[in-house]
Amino acid sequence: MKVEDVRLEKVIARPGDRFPEPKAGEFPFVGRSNVGKSSLLNALLGKKVAFVSKNPGKTRSINYYLINHKFYFVDLPGYGYAKVSKKEREEWRKIIERYFHERDWNIKTVFSLIDSRHELMDSDTQLLGWLQSLGIQPTVVLTKVDKLSSTERNRQLSYFERVLPEFGVEHWIPCSSVTGENLEKIWTVIVEKLEV
Ligand code: GTP
Ligand code: MG
Repeated sequence: MKVEDVRLEKVIARPGDRFPEPKAGEFPFVGRSNVGKSSLLNALLGKKVAFVSKNPGKTRSINYYLINHKFYFVDLPGYGYAKVSKKEREEWRKIIERYFHERDWNIKTVFSLIDSRHELMDSDTQLLGWLQSLGIQPTVVLTKVDKLSSTERNRQLSYFERVLPEFGVEHWIPCSSVTGENLEKIWTVIVEKLEV
């Protein structure tokens, strides 16, 4: 798909903020803080629209990017950042729960991002378990594969092949926002989901 137009259509920052009209559907990007959600969004779009930072916790609101006037990418705040207070973590949970409860019907697929270099962390397994309990089967994106040697890569991929199906996950895509590896596979998923 050729990306001709991208605009930040809506920012949801407070409990009273309204979600935008549905258009042709939406694709949320969820994952731990610092996993590379905003970077992936920018890499897919070929434009720097979302803020990227070395410091976790950069994205604090739900940001709706309207693509080609047709569908949305939704950049969600990251979870699992150890340094935030319990209160902030609780707020994150509320934002995310509200998002899924209100927008479930408009979601084409959830892109659930996991750092390819590590084993699943508690916060990842909590999110995957929660999505599973909602009957949502995410498309997992294994991020930052450019940082793995080929040995590490093989080891990590067999690890994910073993654990992801335990959460009902059937599709995962190893990718890199730096080298662009497999970004076209993510686009294929997007185009397919928009067609059904
Ligand atoms: P929050 O907004 O805090 O939840 O973080 P995020 O998930 O949006 O992460 P972000 O895209 O801001 O990236 C975090 C850091 O990881 C930045 O320093 C990025 O440059 C780096 N990064 C993201 N994706 C990749 C990748 O594919 N490869 C490499 N090598 N670095 C990456
Ligand atoms: Mg971000």
